Amino acid sequence: MNKFDEYAHRYDMNIPEINYKYHHSYRVMDNMIVLAKNMNLSYCEIKIAKVIGLLHDIGRFEQFKRYQSFKDNYLDHADYGVEVIKKEKILDTFDIPKEDYEVVYKAIKNHNKYAIEPGLNRKELLFAKLIRDADKLDILYALSNPELKNIIREDDSTISKKVNDEFFANKQVVRDYQETFNENIVVIFSFAYDFNFNLSLDMLNYENYYDKIYARLDKKDMFKKYIDHVKEYIRERTE
Ligand SMILES: [Fe+2]
Repeated sequence: MNKFDEYAHRYDMNIPEINYKYHHSYRVMDNMIVLAKNMNLSYCEIKIAKVIGLLHDIGRFEQFKRYQSFKDNYLDHADYGVEVIKKEKILDTFDIPKEDYEVVYKAIKNHNKYAIEPGLNRKELLFAKLIRDADKLDILYALSNPELKNIIREDDSTISKKVNDEFFANKQVVRDYQETFNENIVVIFSFAYDFNFNLSLDMLNYENYYDKIYARLDKKDMFKKYIDHVKEYIRERTE
């Protein structure tokens, strides 16, 4: 058992949210490997990518235990995750060169922020970008798959001007703007604007995540203009 598994299993895997995050971590790890290999990164860099994927949400377990919520207003799970990794000396068990520890910490710290903090060096920035793409890809995969997310909640709300303006300006909608379930769906559609690598958009396209999510929605008329817009954006960026 690796040190991540050992740590995660201190929490109750019978709790669906905990169990979900455990498996999400492995799927994001797989996405990191695919991205890193396709970008022709070195063997050592692929290993770093893999560890970042596996550990990026390690702060989720304690966050959920304490607050029964994944809202980062109570505890920033990324910042907390870095603390856990340091305290438990987890990187020492993964055979990562010491000089790359900071690369791992910076990537994990930045994976959940609206934007990557300024001042990262080239290598730190590369891995911060990679984890953000790998994580979003899995969120979209999960939403497209009824076995993983059995409901996508909708309501009777209309989408606010603030959310619409951001969305149609091709900007990832700020999470704080989102007040309703419907707006949450628009936020999810806006993920595409924040992908760092065209390869990630290729994967998204190939797997048809947006179509699969759209197919699950009841209010198709309402969401049509969003999916059309985002698909056109992806098409332009990937052709
Ligand atoms: Fe996360």
